[in-house]
Amino acid sequence: MDESFYNEREQTKAKHDLLRRYLERFAYKILGSGWQALDFIDGFSGPWENKDQTRFRDTSFGIALETLNMVAANLSERGKAVQVRCIFNEKDPAAAKDLADFVARVRPDFPHVEVHTLTGAFDENASAIDSLATHPFRLVLVDPTGWTGFPIEALKTVCKGRCELILNFMHNYIAWHFANPSLNRERWLTELIGAELAAPLHSRELSVEEVRDAVLAMLKAELGFAYACHSPIEMVKKRRLHFSMIYGTSAADGVFVLREAEKKALPDHEWKVNDRRARGQLSMFEDEEHSPGPYGTLRSRHLEDLPALVTKLARQTKDAPLSFKRFAATVMEKHYVSPTEIKEKVGELAKQGLIKPTWKTRKEKARVPDGGDLIVWIGDEIT
Ligand SMILES: C[S@@+](CC[C@H](N)C(=O)[O-])C[C@H]1O[C@@H](n2cnc3c(N)ncnc32)[C@H](O)[C@@H]1O
Repeated sequence: MDESFYNEREQTKAKHDLLRRYLERFAYKILGSGWQALDFIDGFSGPWENKDQTRFRDTSFGIALETLNMVAANLSERGKAVQVRCIFNEKDPAAAKDLADFVARVRPDFPHVEVHTLTGAFDENASAIDSLATHPFRLVLVDPTGWTGFPIEALKTVCKGRCELILNFMHNYIAWHFANPSLNRERWLTELIGAELAAPLHSRELSVEEVRDAVLAMLKAELGFAYACHSPIEMVKKRRLHFSMIYGTSAADGVFVLREAEKKALPDHEWKVNDRRARGQLSMFEDEEHSPGPYGTLRSRHLEDLPALVTKLARQTKDAPLSFKRFAATVMEKHYVSPTEIKEKVGELAKQGLIKPTWKTRKEKARVPDGGDLIVWIGDEIT
């Protein structure tokens, strides 16, 4: 990634880095398995505040085109015929024209991707987007400029079938507009999360984290995703949480791919921030040059809490055994840890005789479980 495109926009770089890493792993996983064809839908494409005016490499659509074309080309070289379609939607007519001109100009450079551009509001174009997206798997990106433009009904229209969603939840806008009860807030909340989830929230003050939790709940209750996660991205200048990249998936693998992409992208972002502080460019923070950002802080806390958390969840498998894959995804939905770190904890509990080492029947020497191995709590039988 060219750093110069992101001068003073580290949070955008982190968002794009996360998107690129996620898209690459996701596309290999989906296209490399049985699906063979996918639609990437960018509902709020831009271009928006980009510096690269020729190749648009610092935009979500530029990143998607490059990444998906590269994955499809590699897979077709290996003899796997895959189909990828990108649907880019933008409301602002001038930006939409830049987008359409760019696509017309570079189409021959991305021969493995079919591209469509649409002009108009995401909610007004939701049905048209849905009709264009005929492949069996969808990834939908919703990256608005504020908190409006993606009402729940539009999300329901677009997030259909096998689908994953990445939604940029913008902290400062939400904090500002959703804190206090008002008639407007009632309308916005209902539009954002649906009447049922919104109703109990109308009469009280809300923190931005509570609104985010409500959006995560909406992804599961209304859009039908099995897992709803988020990744925190800090705004460097103000040293506060700026974006939560909210993510919905129905596959345990989706959670693993997200956490893997995040583990590469976010510490890098937070260390770069420290570098800037160390060079004295942010003199306000000079004394804090080694303090981690929100991701690093939470990851340390989650690692500390992991033994207790794994024990607590493992106890629940006494009467309802779970595959390691589902067990790990449940832990990782809310915690910034990896399957390997969870495996180690499960292995330790098995050594203590608290979890049945079911993986030994697969391979006697296996120390820790694999995806399909069952997690079964047996602690109470021996105490
Ligand atoms: C934050 S920018 C998107 C940036 C882009 N996803 C990226 O990462 O490079 C949001 C874009 O959405 C557009 N927009 C605003 N409201 C919209 C709506 N209701 N429907 C579709 N696009 C909208 C804005 O004009 C702007 O270009």
